[in-house]
Amino acid sequence: MSNHLGLGNWIGSRSRAQHDRHHMTARVSLAVAIPEMARTSEYAIRRAKPCTLVIFGAGDLLHRKLMPSLFHLMGDGLLPEQFAVITVARGQLDDDSFRAQIRDALKTFAPNGGASLDQEVWGRFATHLLYVSGELDDPTTYQALRQRLVEADATVPGLRGHLFYLAIPPSLYKATINRLAESGIAPRLPDPRQRPWVRIIIEKPFGQSLESARSLNACVRRAFAEHQVYRIDHYLGKETVQNLLVFRFANSIFEPVWNRQQVHHVQITAAESVGVEHRGKYYEEAGVVRDMFQNHLLQLLTLMAMEPPVAFSADAVRDEKVKVLRAIRPITPGVMHDYSVRGQYGPGVINGQSVPGYRQEPDVAPDSATATYCAIRFIIDNWRWHDVPFYLRSGKRMPRRVSEIAIQFRNPPHVMFPSPEGRIIEANTLAIRVQPKEGIALRFQVKVPGVEVEMASVDMDFGYAEAFGELDHDAYETLLLDCMLGEATLFTRSDEVEAAWAVVDPIIDYWANKRPDHFPNYPAGSWGPAVADEFIAREGAKWREP
Ligand code: BG6
Repeated sequence: MSNHLGLGNWIGSRSRAQHDRHHMTARVSLAVAIPEMARTSEYAIRRAKPCTLVIFGAGDLLHRKLMPSLFHLMGDGLLPEQFAVITVARGQLDDDSFRAQIRDALKTFAPNGGASLDQEVWGRFATHLLYVSGELDDPTTYQALRQRLVEADATVPGLRGHLFYLAIPPSLYKATINRLAESGIAPRLPDPRQRPWVRIIIEKPFGQSLESARSLNACVRRAFAEHQVYRIDHYLGKETVQNLLVFRFANSIFEPVWNRQQVHHVQITAAESVGVEHRGKYYEEAGVVRDMFQNHLLQLLTLMAMEPPVAFSADAVRDEKVKVLRAIRPITPGVMHDYSVRGQYGPGVINGQSVPGYRQEPDVAPDSATATYCAIRFIIDNWRWHDVPFYLRSGKRMPRRVSEIAIQFRNPPHVMFPSPEGRIIEANTLAIRVQPKEGIALRFQVKVPGVEVEMASVDMDFGYAEAFGELDHDAYETLLLDCMLGEATLFTRSDEVEAAWAVVDPIIDYWANKRPDHFPNYPAGSWGPAVADEFIAREGAKWREP
């Protein structure tokens, strides 16, 4: 059993020097004190052991996320000196031209990249990069890969395992998994202790529906044992999302209020100011519920709502998350309008800039019915949360990029203080800021200084940046490192991914059959359609504007 759940990585993904500095400067506002942790961490630095990584696909994900993350991990000394990365893609490149391409990508996307790209780290990094050109559905590609793998492994003394990463369009997942299995390069290992280990990372979206997710799971299961499979949801690699577990289960004061007696409702928001950018083709098929709810938002909900796991192990945590998903009350067509609303952005203004509407974006139909905003009320039918609404919403082209979980507590049953006519006391709220300005704020009432008994709301605020310095590593760093270390807690299990599809499928199906005649219904730069405000007001609540 590991002590992981974020803690290992939290420390491990940073350099020792950085870590010590953070602890010496830990400080939060409003007199909240962070207990001084040992200067020399008792947490072991988690460094990957020698292995070879094979990445299928050389698109955006590789350039923007995977290579910068590997480069950063190497700079932090968290990758072994012996490792190799083989990229397999269609482009006709040799190793040198591929390396040049990656160097350019790092200049653009690596943290502290650009002019300051560390030449010494780059020099070491580049030698580990290899390239195989070929079609992913062609068996000869795998013969070439096998050959390169043998050569690469020879440069990795003490090799512990092979990690395969599907950074390709989902339409190629099955063919690639089948070809890989047929080639014998990535054998099924029934026993997790077998070495060298073989693991596969599969990106989202994992399926388009419950049915297709089941079919993909069946394909994956034929080729690999479940312990070999790492389904990525990059939200789980975010520092603040991992912190949810620590916050809930390493403190004792929150548990007694974390239930239906004390909580009035929960709001989980993932707002983005960007539009669909160059992803119109994908987004037209996906829409906001597949893109953000099935994965990221439901993951936040499960972490927020789950029961304390019996152990800090991947399966114990995932067991509890699955229970939450299964306890979500199904939303039937007859009540769909009471439980969900959707929207699509029209032209508008964000940060003083005019931006086009969704229907004017590239690769989007001029009469598109795809929703770019959705708000859904979920009810979790269990003892802890009975009748507590969980409002989840996500939208593109909202005023700013912000993700948060806000727990609004119940009002005091009786307020003895006189207050002006019509004034309602603001309820206590605990806001967990996932991004940006990562942190946690508790809002409560205080007396305004003076002779009158006047009340005001204030925040007790913990900010990561003030306490620990800016968060400087990407979620993908955490997830790549975890996978190399065999830590599956932050990855979704097959039953979990299916349970999440079972929650959203009826919503997607219902709306797919209703042509919206009112789209676009919110201007870019606003907090969503007016119907969403009416929707939450019906329940006596109001959207936050974080
Ligand atoms: C992705 C979605 O999974 O998450 C995107 O496909 C979305 O549409 C992105 O923009 C949001 O992630 P982050 O980390 O930028 O909040």
